[in-house]
Amino acid sequence: EQAGSCRNGTGRHKSQDDPLCLREESLSDASALSKLQGMTTLTHLFDSNRAWARDIEQRTPGFFTRLQKQQTPDYLWIGCSDSRVPANEICGVLPGEMFVHRNVANVVVHTDLNCLSVMEFAIDSLKVKHIMVVGHYGCSGVHAAMNDVRIGLADNWLRHVKDVRNQHREWLQSLPDGSVRHDALCELNVLVQCNHVCETTVVHDAWARGQDVVVHGWVYGLNNGLIKDLKMSVSSSQQVQSAFDQALSELKQRYASQVQTQSGIAP
Ligand code: CO
Repeated sequence: EQAGSCRNGTGRHKSQDDPLCLREESLSDASALSKLQGMTTLTHLFDSNRAWARDIEQRTPGFFTRLQKQQTPDYLWIGCSDSRVPANEICGVLPGEMFVHRNVANVVVHTDLNCLSVMEFAIDSLKVKHIMVVGHYGCSGVHAAMNDVRIGLADNWLRHVKDVRNQHREWLQSLPDGSVRHDALCELNVLVQCNHVCETTVVHDAWARGQDVVVHGWVYGLNNGLIKDLKMSVSSSQQVQSAFDQALSELKQRYASQVQTQSGIAP
């Protein structure tokens, strides 16, 4: 009975090397024909879904019926659509604990009704206490923006990231070309988008009426699965500019010392 091999509801599986272990197991004794049929109806996903639901229900009886009545998440995650950056799994939280909005390169545009609606609902109705803008290293959206790579429609969306690049062009060009500069733009983009969250009417209004909402800027490492706090945590309108300036200055210092270390100037 391998279908129940998920240890918990956060998607962690017994076989760390093979996150799709359930698929392998569930198909192992199936005929070639039913495998083929499975590929068109995605039966493996339904199999692993049933296993997942059963596993959660076994560990926490009544989980779904309780959750059905109400969601009370404390967090709104605004992250990249990248399949390697799943919000709940990264933070190890269950359904019901995190409200999520994702788009290419975790961009927050002042006029994006999709993102704004999510934010308003999260703040006004769900009363989330924290909003985190989460970028990630190795972001192909950021890479395309950095290097003027044409993708398609997304070029227009990524124009916003290019604006960030252009605004800080001089500093970025002072960094070594390649991964260092890419990482720097990933982080810069988070700070700018975090700033955009803070400047929305939704967040301003929440702060004005005394609602506790903290906006955070984080970046995630695909290489190690760890989140880094970019130290831009804002909880009032008055803090926005200084928090941004402070976080930006720390970011630049961090890269300056990294570059010095790499070039052998410092230990
Ligand atoms: Co990305």
